[in-house]
Parts: sequence; C-alpha cells; structure tokens
Amino acid sequence: MKSFIEKLMELYALDRKFNRCIEIYQQLSETLDQELGIEPDVETTRLFEKIMKERTAAKKTEVEKLDYFFFGRDQEYNELRMEFNAFRTGRKAQSLLITGEAGIGKTALVNRFIQEVDESKCLVLRTSCFQAEEGFYYKAWDELMNAVSKYYDHIGESIPSAIRKMIGYLFPSFISDEFEVQEYEFEKLDIIKNHVVERAVLDLVQRISDRIPMIIFVEDIHWMDRMSLALFKSLLMKNKNKSIFMVFTGRKGEYDPIEKIAAEGSQYGTLRRICLERFSFDETIAFAETYLEGVALKEGVKSQVFKETDGNPFFMVEILNHIRANRSFQGLTPKMQDVLKSRMNLLSDSAKK
Ligand SMILES: Nc1ncnc2c1ncn2[C@@H]1O[C@H](COP(=O)(O)OP(=O)(O)OP(=O)(O)O)[C@@H](O)[C@H]1O
Ligand SMILES: [Mg+2]
Repeated sequence: MKSFIEKLMELYALDRKFNRCIEIYQQLSETLDQELGIEPDVETTRLFEKIMKERTAAKKTEVEKLDYFFFGRDQEYNELRMEFNAFRTGRKAQSLLITGEAGIGKTALVNRFIQEVDESKCLVLRTSCFQAEEGFYYKAWDELMNAVSKYYDHIGESIPSAIRKMIGYLFPSFISDEFEVQEYEFEKLDIIKNHVVERAVLDLVQRISDRIPMIIFVEDIHWMDRMSLALFKSLLMKNKNKSIFMVFTGRKGEYDPIEKIAAEGSQYGTLRRICLERFSFDETIAFAETYLEGVALKEGVKSQVFKETDGNPFFMVEILNHIRANRSFQGLTPKMQDVLKSRMNLLSDSAKK
C-alpha cells in the first residue's frame, strides 16, 4: 500500500509542483536519517526518481517551446541573469523592477527567466496584482502568506500560535479552524498598530529565507495597493537581497509609487530597473520572420507590420497570427485594424502620462 508521503508526492507531481516533491523527499530523508539512521524505503525512492525524470522532461519541453516563441531581449535577459547569479553565489545583488508599456513583454521575459531557476535550490513564490484590488489592503501579500503557511506545513513545523493569530487578522489563510477569533482580541488588535503585524510578517519571511534562498516574483505592481507596496519596500530594505531575490513587473508611468520604489531602490542599491522598449524596425521584421518560421516578408508587408504594431510584441503576435492563418496581410479587415489601432493609441496615451 502506498504511504501517505508517496500519495502526497504523486499529487504534487500531477500538479507539476516538482519542487514540493523534492522538499517532501528531502525532509523525509533527513528525518529518517536523524531519528533512525535509515534511508527512505525503496518504493518511495523509486517514486521520487520517477518524478525527477518527469520533471526533467517537463522542463525540457517548456524550454523548447519557449525557445521557439521568445525573441531578442538579450541584454535585458543577461542583466537579470547577472543579478541572479550574484544573489545565488552570495555576492552583492540587486532585485529587479521590469517596466514598460502594456504588451511589451515584461511577463514573457520573467517567464523565460523562471525556466532557468533551479527550484530545488530555492523557494520560488509568485504573486500578481489585479486592477480591482488597488483599493484593498495587503492584497498582493495574500498569495505569498498562503505560500508561507503551506511551506511551514510541508516542513512539518508550526508557526508559533501567537504569531499565527496576529498575522491571521490580515491574512485569513493563517487562521485555521482551531483558532476561534475572540472579540476581545479584535479590540486588542485595533490598538496594536499595523506595523506590529507587518513586522511579524517580515520576520516570518526572513526566517524562511534563512533556511532556503527565496525568489519572489511580483507581477503588475502598477495595480498594487499602497500597503502591500510599503511592505515590499520594507522587505527590500531589511533583507537587502541577501537571502531574498525579488523581481517586480509594472507598467511604466502609470503609477507614481513605481517611480518612488525605483528611485529608493537605486539610492540604496537594492533595486535595479530594466526598462523594456518597443522593438526597432529591424527587430520587428526579424521577430516576424522567425515567428512565421522563416518566411521572407515582402517589403510592403514589412513596413505595414511595423506601422500597425509600432514594435509592440503584443500587437505583433496578433497580426502575425492573422497573417499565418490567412497567408496575407490583406485580410486584416479595416475594422480589425481600427480595433488594434485604438488599442495601440490607448497604450501610447497611458505610456505618455
Ligand atoms: N521577446 C518576446 N518574444 C516572443 N514573444 C513575446 C516577447 N515579448 C512579448 N511577447 C508576446 O507578446 C505578448 C505580450 O507580452 P507580455 O504578456 O509579456 O506583455 P506584458 O509587458 O507583460 O504586458 P502587461 O503589461 O499587459 O502585463 C505575449 O503574447 C508574449 O508572448
Ligand atoms: Mg504582464
């Protein structure tokens, strides 16, 4: 019969959360070794090895897929890698803020980079901000705190109940059924300022990163609520990229706090900004011809592709898919061109702000 550990590993593998499988297996090996001086049994080890093979295969196909789609951005990609390598090898490193207009390829660059990260050697956490959340408090931290809570579950330790309760007021996933929230505690917490809870949050994250280096990806910070942003700034100041490496993405010029976090980061040397620009004419054509698998575009089509897209990859992909399906630029109806153009204008306006 399969052990609980094996079932858990299988579930995570199905979910492609291979790093969780590694954590579980390592924890099991360590505990068995320390407590009994033995190794995990043959079945469990065989399952672990099977999952690691699946992981390698999955990574390979992802990279292959990605190589096909990802174009250019060599300089920006190398900057990211350079900082991450510095972080990984314990040298002084800077976290990164990737900015640029909508559709310029911020997420594409981050995704490309994530493929390089060996998730068995660090804990990778990811959170995104959404437009509707700007008005909420600490929304961007919800997902992270959820992951923190799960991490403690996985390593089989519990977060001290006082801290758990305190953090639970801001992040409900921290309070499980065993803690009934008492009214008097609410009153007490009204008096305790937010910064006490914030400190508990920072301490907890720091504590995890003392055990395993942590990478935090935060998408679309132009929609981030101010409390969340302040907390990320504190984390950056406190940790100074020693055990936590962060990568933020955000649309340029849409939200002043981005400028503040960038300015502060460069003043203290904790955060470096990478600004993604539109592709040039030549790059746009090279992108297009690669995307269309080596088709050589006619001069007229080249200039039209550039005119319609202005070198923004989001629009390039839209138009190129159309060309691929219809084998011509012509079928791009005036209506479709209008829609694309008005979206383009929207982008340029917001980028100008
Ligand atoms: N360097 C690239 N190579 C290939 N495709 C790209 C590249 N950059 C962007 N794309 C494609 O362009 C589209 C938009 O890119 P992406 O989602 O990364 O933009 P973004 O900057 O994150 O936009 P937003 O601000 O809306 O989040 C996607 O389909 C993406 O795959
Ligand atoms: Mg994006």
